[in-house]
Amino acid sequence: MSKKFYLETYGCQMNVHDSEKANFSLSGSGYEQTSDPLDADLILLNTCMVREKAARKVYSRIAELKHQRRELKRDSAAVFGVMGCVAQAEAERLFERSSDIRLVMGTQAISKLPQLIEQLDQGFPRAIDVHLSKDADFYEINADVRQTTHIAYITITEGCNKFCSFCIVPYTRGRERSRPAEKIIQEAKSLALQGFKEVHLLGQNVNSYGLSGRYRGSLPGVGGTARGTEELTTFAHLLERLAVESGLPRIKYTTSHPRDFDEEIVRVMDSHDNLCEWVHLPAQSGSDRVLRAMRRGYTRREYIEKIDSIKRARKDLSITGDIIVGFPGETDDDFNQTLSMVAEVGYDGLYIFKYSPRPHTPAAAYIDSVTEEVKTERFMKLNELQHRIQKDRYSRYLGRKVEVLVEGVSARSSSDVVGHTRCNKVINFPGAVDLVGNLAAVKVTEIKPNSLYGSLS
Ligand code: 5AD
Ligand code: SF4
Repeated sequence: MSKKFYLETYGCQMNVHDSEKANFSLSGSGYEQTSDPLDADLILLNTCMVREKAARKVYSRIAELKHQRRELKRDSAAVFGVMGCVAQAEAERLFERSSDIRLVMGTQAISKLPQLIEQLDQGFPRAIDVHLSKDADFYEINADVRQTTHIAYITITEGCNKFCSFCIVPYTRGRERSRPAEKIIQEAKSLALQGFKEVHLLGQNVNSYGLSGRYRGSLPGVGGTARGTEELTTFAHLLERLAVESGLPRIKYTTSHPRDFDEEIVRVMDSHDNLCEWVHLPAQSGSDRVLRAMRRGYTRREYIEKIDSIKRARKDLSITGDIIVGFPGETDDDFNQTLSMVAEVGYDGLYIFKYSPRPHTPAAAYIDSVTEEVKTERFMKLNELQHRIQKDRYSRYLGRKVEVLVEGVSARSSSDVVGHTRCNKVINFPGAVDLVGNLAAVKVTEIKPNSLYGSLS
């Protein structure tokens, strides 16, 4: 009988995709996936550090699962493993703090999963791989093992070289590497053949695709990746090739970085119908002083110039962003500049985070001068402003016909289905379950705070 594994995923799309990769890796070594943690021989937690106290949550989740298993007298042979950013950042400390954890797998170790499990099977008490290499290979998986339905993720870059002072990513995901363009295009084509309607190109900073190769002395587009064997290109060029060659109806990408986002990307988006009308371009703050302390590498004005280039597009592109409130030293004046910038941009959606220190990062050594109370106050104020802006932004869709990828039956009403528009808004409309997986033309009839409502047209 084959052994069973249970995998729980926290965090971003990158993590969801890493879980697909781990699933692929484990299936190749005779493991079968189960959705019941109480029935599993191996319980893996794929962790995220964007939220605070991530490591602590790992220990409490393990205790909870252990308790449930004990109640069912299934305390026997389950192995607990941790992967993702917490595994990378905490490494051996996880073993020290919890004797239940026997497997720690860093962000570049997914391909090593079978060997790590083999070590445990051979009787080693613990197995760990948290090695980070600046030219680690990308782990390739087949189109037919995707766990996400209708939308498929494609990794184009991993890691980050920007070292923003608040962010742990360069430490947990290592130096930025770009996946060879041919591999990406091959994967996109095979996903299209499998029937996927939409892909999301993934990377911490997709716009710098190909640039890390250039840092090592090779030119984009003229041969030579980081390894000098395959062609690398710029992000705009990659996007254009995917639009032309993949056969996919809808292509989205995330995340962009204001420093590397350029007008050529907008030109390419404007030129191809299958490039969707959405740009996620995090500003983090509207104050130059704070942006400098964050080491973002651009000013508010430069950011607004990029936004203006997006607004000048022929297509109506929707813009979303991230803001951190309460960064160390952020004054009322700094925060007011963030408010005015958010109003000036007019985001279609905004993710607001209260600053909290992350281990290893330079900002963790700054004095966290903004009290929790003030952070909450600023969060609420910005949230309220965004609510008003969003209402206005959403109302421009009223009466418009939008293309929806139907992803499932609505959680709120079984007579409605739910999906995303090309501009990445959630939309519900009355429809039957057989629409799921298809593209539908829907007329927007109503706007809600965070979604649209419509009817088939
Ligand atoms: N504190 C608060 N928010 C953070 N983010 C990243 N690091 C931190 C931190 N230390 C936010 C940023 C980033 C998003 C994914 O998470 O806004 O864009
Ligand atoms: Fe890289 Fe900065 Fe984004 Fe973190 S916030 S992943 S350091 S660009």
